[in-house]
Amino acid sequence: PPVALAVAIGAYLLGSVPFGLLLTRAAGLGDIRRVGSGNIGATNVLRTGRRGLAAATLLLDGLKGAVAIWLAVAAWPVSLSASVAAVCVILGHCFPVWLRFAGGKGVATLLGVALALDWRAGVVCCLLWLLVARLTRISSAGGIAAAVALPVMLFGLAHGNTGNPVPYAGLLSALLVLARHHANIGRLIAGTEPRIGRPRPGPT
Ligand code: G3P
Repeated sequence: PPVALAVAIGAYLLGSVPFGLLLTRAAGLGDIRRVGSGNIGATNVLRTGRRGLAAATLLLDGLKGAVAIWLAVAAWPVSLSASVAAVCVILGHCFPVWLRFAGGKGVATLLGVALALDWRAGVVCCLLWLLVARLTRISSAGGIAAAVALPVMLFGLAHGNTGNPVPYAGLLSALLVLARHHANIGRLIAGTEPRIGRPRPGPT
């Protein structure tokens, strides 16, 4: 139905708002894509030394994930609605048309999506992200852990109800985020992924 298409496009467009890029540009820091890893997310904004801006990026990139789902459910109250919005908002963040499809890695947006899909899964993902990032001092390790946890939690909470699309949306979202971390995963395996608070060598 047309409303399904509107939900998909609306979520994609909301997801494609690059808050990290906009906030750092507004703060006069130039193009965040020329800093650190070149990523537009909160982790890389933190590499500018502006903790407040990094927190705002995390919050806004997360919020757009949750808002996309709330709006979708309000506009199209069927069981598929939240799932379509979840995948499309993350697609928008990772592949925004405005940045020639070169967007972010989707961790903050995945956390917002997780909280809106099922708050229990969301809380687990957020805690795991915080815990792993804190213990390892590696942001991508936290993001990867949260992404893996999302479908595991959602399938677990669905109690074998295979007609529920939400766990599959969680799985697709996680795969998108993991695919965007391929360079990070390579460095994690090689033991060269930089830790939070230290400068990193080159772009990814
Ligand atoms: O949220 C993105 C994070 O997991 C990795 O970012 O800039 O270290 O590649 P970055």
